[in-house]
Amino acid sequence: MIIFKTILPLQAKIAQLKKEGKSIGFVPTMGALHSGHISLIEASRLESDITVCSIFINPMQFNDRKDFEKYPKTIEQDILLLEQNGADIIFIPSVDEIYPTANSTVPIYNLDYLEDILEGFYRPGHFQGVCRVVERLLHIVMPDILFLGQKDYQQCMVIKKMMDQANIVTKLKICPTLRESNGLAMSSRNIRLSASSKVHAAGIYKALHYVKDHFRQSSLSDLKNTAIAIIKDSGFEKVDYVEICDGETLLTVSEIQAQKKYVVLAAAFIDGIRLIDNLVLN
Ligand code: PAF
Repeated sequence: MIIFKTILPLQAKIAQLKKEGKSIGFVPTMGALHSGHISLIEASRLESDITVCSIFINPMQFNDRKDFEKYPKTIEQDILLLEQNGADIIFIPSVDEIYPTANSTVPIYNLDYLEDILEGFYRPGHFQGVCRVVERLLHIVMPDILFLGQKDYQQCMVIKKMMDQANIVTKLKICPTLRESNGLAMSSRNIRLSASSKVHAAGIYKALHYVKDHFRQSSLSDLKNTAIAIIKDSGFEKVDYVEICDGETLLTVSEIQAQKKYVVLAAAFIDGIRLIDNLVLN
């Protein structure tokens, strides 16, 4: 495994590998790696000759400075985990490497309503920051396939939109969410949960599962209200949203149609830590 901290030697290595006919899979991360990330590394290893993983806590996607400062950092452990799980290349750039000049123009992505709903509503500017870093990383790594986790459902849609608009030919592969045995979706933020909060945090999954189990049997508003109650009763102090949306557009649904894909998404705070999760309903 080779670790690069700067762009030019990384690009030289990737150019050499591509010349040798090797395909490149890319897993971008912000570190604090867990089995969910490792499943992306595994997916990449299955489908690509070379797996590149980046670790970069992107300041541009945090609308809350404190959230950025508190983001877990476990770099030594992350490197070990990637080594053990067969990543070929790790890219660990500095902020200056990714965003070289303070006064260069900041790109603006046309994400339409996608950046104003759900996560976008509660985290203004978040998806612009995500697009900025992912576009930059894709231009640096030039992968054949980009691997993302379905836990960040809206992020996957936003990145797909950005890639289409920027004519990026990399394929996007969305991989299933990995869960703890109690259903809690794996997330870097879980590191900050106490042992008891980790148990209670499964309430978000229970609520989403309730919606899945009762979908088409109860009204949409009953489903949502019960899901919110389940999350609150589990010990979450605040629910930002539970929404049942069209799985293709992410628009909130008012009536269910036969052939469409639907998804339920939620965001809530436990012990001051904001968790998100989703389940595809059909
Ligand atoms: O999902 C994440 O960890 C981040 O949003 C990503 C895609 C690595 C961009 O910083």
